[in-house]
Amino acid sequence: MKSTDPSLKLWGGRFTTKIDPLMDKFNASLPYDYRMYRADLQGTKVYTEGLQKVGLLTPGELENIHKGLRQIDKEWSDGTFEKKPDDEDIHTANERRLGEIIGQNIAGKVHTGRSRNDQVATDMRIYCREVIYDTIFPTIERLIKVLILRAREEIDVLMPGYTHLQRAQPIRWSHWLSCYATYFSEDFDRLKQLVTRLNKSPLGAGALAGHPYMIDREYLAEGLGFQGVIGNSLVAVSDRDFVVEIMFWSTLFMNHLSRFAEDLIIYSTVEFGFVKLAESYSTGSSLMPQKRNPDSLELLRGKSGRVFGQLSGLLMTMKSIPSTYNKDMQEDKEPLFDCLTTVEHCCTIAAGLISTLTVNQENMHKALTVEMLATDLADYLVLKGVPFRETHHISGTCVAFAEKNGLSGIDKITLKQFQNIDPRFEEDVFEVFDFEKSVEKRSSLGGTAKSAIIKQLDALTMQLMNT
Ligand code: ARG
Repeated sequence: MKSTDPSLKLWGGRFTTKIDPLMDKFNASLPYDYRMYRADLQGTKVYTEGLQKVGLLTPGELENIHKGLRQIDKEWSDGTFEKKPDDEDIHTANERRLGEIIGQNIAGKVHTGRSRNDQVATDMRIYCREVIYDTIFPTIERLIKVLILRAREEIDVLMPGYTHLQRAQPIRWSHWLSCYATYFSEDFDRLKQLVTRLNKSPLGAGALAGHPYMIDREYLAEGLGFQGVIGNSLVAVSDRDFVVEIMFWSTLFMNHLSRFAEDLIIYSTVEFGFVKLAESYSTGSSLMPQKRNPDSLELLRGKSGRVFGQLSGLLMTMKSIPSTYNKDMQEDKEPLFDCLTTVEHCCTIAAGLISTLTVNQENMHKALTVEMLATDLADYLVLKGVPFRETHHISGTCVAFAEKNGLSGIDKITLKQFQNIDPRFEEDVFEVFDFEKSVEKRSSLGGTAKSAIIKQLDALTMQLMNT
């Protein structure tokens, strides 16, 4: 049974009556913020060094504190940390335990000049930085690498490129892969920029008004690996823009992943038959024995909605909070943690499914129709000096002519019929009707020719190497 005696709370001094047990539970964040335990201990380690520097702790006391912190760290990591009913959050739990280990006389000095307001902001920044560096960066990198590898291996495979989901122009399958590798690489870059804003120290801002003992905030920042301090203590304790930014970043990334998934869902239908998901990333139907469903892709698409919802939820929570810390802000953690986990899992699943799916080159090729070369036909006349607006019209007339005369495609029009439509058509017009040639013509930067795609893949590889 959870205790509700206020004298057991770290802030209980001015309280005389008991707390409603439900309120106690309602108020607690330990069930989810315990995952920041290491960040919290690191913060306290460096903060106490700062206290010693201004003479508020002796070297002996500091040593004791650090020893205690190491033990708490060990307890958390080997699963022996015992949570107590009055542990409200990770900050109070760690401090309570420190008191038990080294005695309240010394442990009671740790919070001098510090508030949970600057403490939680510090912990969250450390925690987010760590998750981004240790988890998110490597998983995105793996995803980009898998896309690049596949694009290099299957560079000879052609497929229809679509606009409005209508067959438009032939492209290489690798161009599609490189498209998403480019999106994800931009995401990678954006996340790096975000870290530079996130990586500033709130520590030493106190509850809101600043530190009364001339603590060296730059020293604290440096000790915790921050690039500088947040220059206004009110901002330091109240700013959750870094959480919003992470969630916005996640939303955008998940949007890209969702479009990627949507393409593959379409390409994997029997009607398209371009790709086949590995069994390890598909599931069956409980009723229809023949079904093989792209659940992995549908979940990637579906989870993008979840992350976006969490972003909008947090923005609503934050939008009218008065200055500095308010308890509403405790609501930042669950969506943030969930969002980071979702991104990590989705990214790993995407890398797995893309490296295991099979491509049906024949079906992709069968889906290329000669009408997709109508632009090439217009371009053919451009090279003979005809203005494009005119050639566009002439090529359109050819398409209509083939349709009206029941021909299977514009390549079945005879030279005579071509010349009847426009006398500038010559014998070499039939060379236009070659998908490979069409693709290879688009060799300028970013295009679908083999050389252009290799350049894109090389640039993406270089970008990864520079990170
Ligand atoms: N658990 C709290 C949070 O996550 C820590 C900060 C509490 N600050 C306070 N003034 N009650 O936001």
